[in-house]
Amino acid sequence: MADFQGKQMIEISGLTKRYGSHTVLDNINFAVDSGSIAAIVGRSGAGKSTLFRCVNLLERPTSGTVRVDGQELTHLSRRELRTARRAIGTVFQSANLLRRLTAAQNVALPLRFLGLSDEEVHQRVRELLERVGLLHRANHYPAQLSGGQRQRVGIARGLATRPSVLLSDEATSGLDPETTRSILRLLTELRDDLGVTIVVITHEMDVVRSVADVVAHLDRGRIVESGRVGEVVRRSDSPLATSLLPTDPAPAPLAGEVVWQLRYTDAIVDPNWLTRVSRELDTDIALLSGLVETVGGDHAGRLTVRMSGRLSPATVAGAFAAYGIHAQVASAADELAVAS
Ligand SMILES: Nc1ncnc2c1ncn2[C@@H]1O[C@H](COP(=O)(O)OP(=O)(O)OP(=O)(O)O)[C@@H](O)[C@H]1O
Ligand SMILES: [Mg+2]
Repeated sequence: MADFQGKQMIEISGLTKRYGSHTVLDNINFAVDSGSIAAIVGRSGAGKSTLFRCVNLLERPTSGTVRVDGQELTHLSRRELRTARRAIGTVFQSANLLRRLTAAQNVALPLRFLGLSDEEVHQRVRELLERVGLLHRANHYPAQLSGGQRQRVGIARGLATRPSVLLSDEATSGLDPETTRSILRLLTELRDDLGVTIVVITHEMDVVRSVADVVAHLDRGRIVESGRVGEVVRRSDSPLATSLLPTDPAPAPLAGEVVWQLRYTDAIVDPNWLTRVSRELDTDIALLSGLVETVGGDHAGRLTVRMSGRLSPATVAGAFAAYGIHAQVASAADELAVAS
């Protein structure tokens, strides 16, 4: 994988898309490194699917450029576009399989136009179905497959032309968590084994946390935040960061106590921090709620704790900061509870 890294496979610059006077995408700038998985998140109507269609050029941007593997796509003729699109595989929510064709025939569809012999098509389809773990279902029709299996066939079809980029619009929506996990594992394998650059559009934050290298938050047609997933979670309490690593709302503290909101700011945090800070400040720390995860190989944590109000906020914040944890008062029982 190392040799893929660093090169930008997808470069979107100044991309704007209007329908009449309605601006759906407003000056989007976003790049995806070769061999990485990018997630695009945002509420319904934010413009995610429109961005998707602009990247695979099913839709012409109003202005701006889209480069895939160094090739600028917005100015290509129809004919050139057809060839260029082979470098981009797509997978949709319902997999969009043709009902009258078997799994194998569905996967073979994009290969029909490549001038391969029947034997070559047959061989390639076998490889693809094997890749997604469905060789034993080759002759089944979509209605005879489960949702997750249909999605795998859709992925195999998306990979048929050996694309360097795979785009997925809500490919795991509507699947149960276990099936979702197996599809995500498949996507990760495709990145690792084939070096495919993958863009997933999703509203499921679990999906982002478990597979994405980078994430972009699209809000009303603009990218309001983006970055490596672990960095986004560590650097702030932005809406994107908190939805990636949510915590329960802080409860009201008891008299004389203070509720603190903690966020890991370092990529590696001493797992013994709670005992250590407790000992250093000579006070109890009640853990109320929280989530600690490994995101992209790094630690990410967001927790709520309750401590005595005797201690000065600066002392408490300083003690946590020494362990790479940002601490801020969530709420105080009363003014006096926060000694200064
Ligand atoms: N062909 C079109 N003509 C006019 N407006 C459109 C067209 N396609 C999309 N829009 C508008 O663009 C906006 C963004 O739509 P889009 O489908 O990209 O949202 P989305 O983020 O994918 O939402 P969802 O999460 O619900 O799929 C919406 O307001 C939609 O009505
Ligand atoms: Mg959509």
